[in-house]
Amino acid sequence: MDMFVVRGGTPLQGRIRVSGAKNAALPIMAASIMADDAVTLRDVPDLVDVRTLASLLGTLGLLVERQDDQSLQLEVIDNSATVADYELVRRMRASICVLGPLLARRGRACVSLPGGCNIGDRPIDLHLKGLEALGADIRIERGYVMASAKRLRGNRVFLGGSFGSTVTGTCNVLAAAVLADGVTTIESAACEPEVVDFGNFLRSLGAKIDGLGTPFLRIEGVRRLGGTDHTIIPDRIEAATFLIAGAMTRGDVTVENCCPGHMSAILDKLKETGVEITEIEAGSGSTGATLRVRGPQSLKQAECSALPYPGLPTDVQAQFMALLSLADGISVVTDKVFPDRFMHVAELVRLGARIHREGPSAIINGVGRLSGACVMASDLRASAALVLAALAAEGDTVIRRIYHLDRGYEQIEQRLNSLGASIRRVEDCAENVPANLQLTQGVSVPAPHIAVAASVAKTAAPQER
Ligand code: EPU
Repeated sequence: MDMFVVRGGTPLQGRIRVSGAKNAALPIMAASIMADDAVTLRDVPDLVDVRTLASLLGTLGLLVERQDDQSLQLEVIDNSATVADYELVRRMRASICVLGPLLARRGRACVSLPGGCNIGDRPIDLHLKGLEALGADIRIERGYVMASAKRLRGNRVFLGGSFGSTVTGTCNVLAAAVLADGVTTIESAACEPEVVDFGNFLRSLGAKIDGLGTPFLRIEGVRRLGGTDHTIIPDRIEAATFLIAGAMTRGDVTVENCCPGHMSAILDKLKETGVEITEIEAGSGSTGATLRVRGPQSLKQAECSALPYPGLPTDVQAQFMALLSLADGISVVTDKVFPDRFMHVAELVRLGARIHREGPSAIINGVGRLSGACVMASDLRASAALVLAALAAEGDTVIRRIYHLDRGYEQIEQRLNSLGASIRRVEDCAENVPANLQLTQGVSVPAPHIAVAASVAKTAAPQER
């Protein structure tokens, strides 16, 4: 297992390009199951999650090939498989995105239930409710969702839940509706740009969908879908992460391939904290805009609520918390999408942040400085927040369990290092922890205890979080 050793304190400077959006690429790759001709996807980042889904699609009869650094080609060569196995699905929740496409195109789907994760329970009741409304017969057996339907029929579907709509649930029901008989209306559909990109991809295959980007979708079923060549939208979460990195290190960073229209809540909140952001080049065609961020000498406090789009995304909640831990005064961050997504709080506290959790909120008392320490990543965005805090902290920080980061950010250390950061990927072992973080050095412990401590350290399994 690898870990990062980050030396903080350098203002980041230079240009960095944002990749295609992971959360658009994954459901789009899954929906390629429904395409009767070849699909080319451009600007697909080379992430662990993308590779995991490519493996799963391979078991479902698709040939998935990376054409070059940026594009993937997908082609169905066998339409018979309908089982998405637990061993692959458990590695990535987004595997659930094959459910709607398999059911719609092959009449059956047997997809392992993804289970919970470190950011919450993550139910899929709304996915199932929507597919049932289209006529699917659904049972849960031996940990699998067993769905079947001779023909799906258009219907009215309401996808609102206690925490708003559902992003991947909207994708699943939309995919199924595209090949259903007749007209489907989805009310309370998710409006996230990734869902719009997903819908636009389906339209480019021949689907008839109106209302993308609004909570009301109207879908007229078609008999078959062809192939396409589609470019994935820029990743607004990655763009926000880079902007916050520039802001927190008091740097001057130019971020290429952004879609400011997808980032209004993020940009607005960053400006409220005193971060200066200017659009220096407008986007054109499939190329995004270029934003320049200059970090202020001091950050202002703010109140942030993570909400469904167009609100502030839950996927930047942790990064904003890292930023606000250095702001003057008291800030409040609330997550109304995943009210338990706060595993990063305790780790940020280890870096010197003053944060106190109260139910779905965290109260942050800004501090003048963070200082490096050993911390543990718990999920993708929590890991990103720890990298940001480490870049701004004084001294060295060790971040363990960085495999979470590799799921969603391509070569993040190399890209941040090109801006002047100092991030080393090393094997996770005691020898690689910088000496200044090993406080036991120089502490005098009686000899027998040292022997016991060493033998325990050798046998102790790493703690899963
Ligand atoms: N929910 C239900 N029932 C459902 C589905 C969702 O109650 O059937 C609840 C969830 O528990 C949550 C809320 O609705 O409280 C929103 O969940 P949603 O279904 O929208 O999340 P998702 O589709 O599973 C996607 C992203 C997440 C992102 C969320 C919210 C992908 C692959 N994942 O998850 O991304 O946080 O939408 O925007 O698109 C990430 O990239 O780090 C990540 C976790």
